Amino acid sequence: MDLLFKGGTVVTAKSTFKADVAVTKGRISAIGAGLKPDKNTEVIDAKGKMILPGAIDGHTHLAMPFGGTIATDDYFTGTRAAACGGTTTVFDFVLQGVGETMDAALKRRDDICRADGPACDYSYHIGVGDVTTPEMLASMDECMKMGVATFKVFMVYDFGVDDGQFFETLQHAAKIGALVGVHAENRDVNNALIKKFLAEGKTDAWYHYLSKNEDVAGEADVRAINLAKMAGAPLYIVHLDNKQGVEAVAQARAEGYPIFAETCPQYLYFTKDVYKKGIPELKLRARDFVCSPPMKGKPSQDALWNGIKTGAVSTLATDHCPFLKKEKDWGIKQKDGKKGNFTTIPNGCAGIENMYPYILSEANKGRISFNKAVEISATNPAKLFGIDYCKGAIEVGLDADIVVYDPKKEFEVNNRKNQHGALDHTIWEKAKFKGYPVAVYNRGKLLFDGKDYVGQSGDGKFIKQKKIKFKGPEF
Ligand code: URP
Ligand code: ZN
Ligand code: ZN
Repeated sequence: MDLLFKGGTVVTAKSTFKADVAVTKGRISAIGAGLKPDKNTEVIDAKGKMILPGAIDGHTHLAMPFGGTIATDDYFTGTRAAACGGTTTVFDFVLQGVGETMDAALKRRDDICRADGPACDYSYHIGVGDVTTPEMLASMDECMKMGVATFKVFMVYDFGVDDGQFFETLQHAAKIGALVGVHAENRDVNNALIKKFLAEGKTDAWYHYLSKNEDVAGEADVRAINLAKMAGAPLYIVHLDNKQGVEAVAQARAEGYPIFAETCPQYLYFTKDVYKKGIPELKLRARDFVCSPPMKGKPSQDALWNGIKTGAVSTLATDHCPFLKKEKDWGIKQKDGKKGNFTTIPNGCAGIENMYPYILSEANKGRISFNKAVEISATNPAKLFGIDYCKGAIEVGLDADIVVYDPKKEFEVNNRKNQHGALDHTIWEKAKFKGYPVAVYNRGKLLFDGKDYVGQSGDGKFIKQKKIKFKGPEF
């Protein structure tokens, strides 16, 4: 064996137990009491520490062209930050262009990713941009052959689908064993509200929230679920943020439908109040929090936490999509010098390094169990996205994606001093975590030593997804 983690407490989605964990050739080779090292084994003292699976961030936008610019973190800096926060696999979005097949888009983005040299393992979801012809729809099958079985449609944005295209995508996905995710917001109501607010001269970030409020999202969640039921397809609602949506997912699951939902740490930690004046004492302006969908009110936040506890919310992911402060300033003055407004702020925030520490800290403080934190951050995403044959748990035979977690370590986010992405600020500044990863391994290779990134560009490898066939809500 190459590595032996001695004396730690192993946490899986279902149980917590004291055991040693052995790693051979990048995979977990034994779990048990009193495992003995070989002559060349590196022994890691894990007494007083937890041994957790590396998190899987099922929602990132690295180097993505969006909002008139490109997301700040590339495939290296973004995955480096992920690894330093205990995330060892990311699922990044490939956006299909109009007239471009999905497999061509996948190839185009994968070339960029490989050139950047990802720091941890990665896979993709395809952001559907054109299913207007049979050829475009059939290109989903080509992506499946290339090892990508997950797709996302947008009910909002000008490049999004209409309901008919969404329905056809769902039907096709059900036929070929793919999973469709959805960004659910009502585009027409969003646009009508934008028109009204701008005509009234209401231009600041608060109106970003009001034009994408709880009802704008909730209505689309309900509609998306109905479309999935009609199509006889499983559905994955990404970045779920509102009470109506949580209730609709819970109801559909209780009826036996394979409906799944993801939420993000920002919806669990912040509320819509950040759009009033930001957090001035942290030099964070309201526009720095502009992301889509925006943070919602306390009742929605409570519903999301409840959804995590009851199982209505299956996964946690970041929607990491960072933009520089000067790009966020386009909400005041645009690139071309014209006056800006809430619609001209690039949408998205950073979070890739903070997801696992945040949810584990909440577990450490007793809000949820550590098992639940592992389930939603690692085990469920692995199952939903067809990579549970190699990822998502501390289990013999799986990749040695291992986080050694010190529940006693206190950590405060400081973008300048202890974060590893490329952004010039973070909405997580000064967030305090009880407990923190002190070592992070990806396929048995140490990437984070508790202080610094110690890996190399290109360590990450593409992880193929297998076919996804959910008939009901159970995993
Ligand atoms: O604000 C965000 N999340 N930007 C990225 C695109 C999306 O809708 O996920
Ligand atoms: Zn989205
Ligand atoms: Zn997103």
